[in-house]
Amino acid sequence: MKILITGIAGFIGSKVAEHFSKNGHEVVGVDDLSQGNINNIPKGVKFIKYDLSDNNVLDKLPNDCDYILHIAGQSSGEISFDDPASDLTKNTLSTLNLIKYGIAKKVKKFLFASSMSVYGDVPNQAISESYLPSPVSCYGISKLTSERYLDIFKDKLPFINLRMFNVYGPGQDLSNLRQGMVSIFLAQALKKERVHVKGSLERFRDFIYIDDVVDAWYKLCLNDSKNISINIGTGRRATVEELLLIIKKNIKGVNYFSEGSTPGDQKGIYADNTLLIKTIGRTKFTTIESGIRTLCGSINSN
Ligand SMILES: NC(=O)c1ccc[n+]([C@@H]2O[C@H](COP(=O)([O-])OP(=O)(O)OC[C@H]3O[C@@H](n4cnc5c(N)ncnc54)[C@H](O)[C@@H]3O)[C@@H](O)[C@H]2O)c1
Repeated sequence: MKILITGIAGFIGSKVAEHFSKNGHEVVGVDDLSQGNINNIPKGVKFIKYDLSDNNVLDKLPNDCDYILHIAGQSSGEISFDDPASDLTKNTLSTLNLIKYGIAKKVKKFLFASSMSVYGDVPNQAISESYLPSPVSCYGISKLTSERYLDIFKDKLPFINLRMFNVYGPGQDLSNLRQGMVSIFLAQALKKERVHVKGSLERFRDFIYIDDVVDAWYKLCLNDSKNISINIGTGRRATVEELLLIIKKNIKGVNYFSEGSTPGDQKGIYADNTLLIKTIGRTKFTTIESGIRTLCGSINSN
């Protein structure tokens, strides 16, 4: 199969691309290199440097892709408040342009990197896809709007919205202190700084390891599921403090303090992943203890 993967220079896009490529698929990657790193792009894949918010998309991308995996995007809730229009352009206009491309080229299925941020503030219970979304960040609005556009065009272009929870693992950008809770904490811990937690230690999240996320993208692309939103989470709730204590077990001498907050931060959220388990047939997910251990090991060996 020929797979178009956007955001291929980023954390998730590069890992998904590597997996498809290793399994014998032809990958064409797109990225504008506004984030990510050109060195993340797996060897041997065709790369197009292109900003997907530019509407010449039909001329720039190949004619014969079977699937679109749209993973490119501005991925921080905090940053989305700096310039909401830029967030909308990067996260929604890009999606609309790719929908136009997908319909014109008769692509089989469009998989979209959505987020748990679409749900907003939720009760303390596992959240299923049927929970009514009500985003509390500009980022969440951009993602939900993209989902809604995909739904409108589903008769011409089948879709899947992958509502990813907190993805972490080797390959995360440790230089960006405004994107990704695990990488923000680790970056500070590795510099032997006291980890500054912006928000309560009692907040909770669903941390999912990158390999489990890659497996979900792969199976959801190639199986016959379509026209659904699906939570990509472990179903396990971990507080920020629990995460810090696990990091502390792996990096000696880590200390932390909580001060301030970030706009649009959700108090607590974790996934009901029943639909994911049913759709891809996976029952086990990497535990946070094991995932953080592997991540810290990969950093030490580099
Ligand atoms: N990391 C997470 O925990 C998480 C959770 C939920 C959803 N997501 C979504 O998954 C996607 C990937 O996240 P990530 O953590 O790999 O982020 P990342 O920043 O590492 O990768 C995103 C990539 O998209 C590229 N990009 C951004 N705008 C672009 C545009 N207009 N045209 C072309 N390329 C563009 C960037 O240059 C970057 O390489 C994002 O859409 C993000 O919103 C991430």
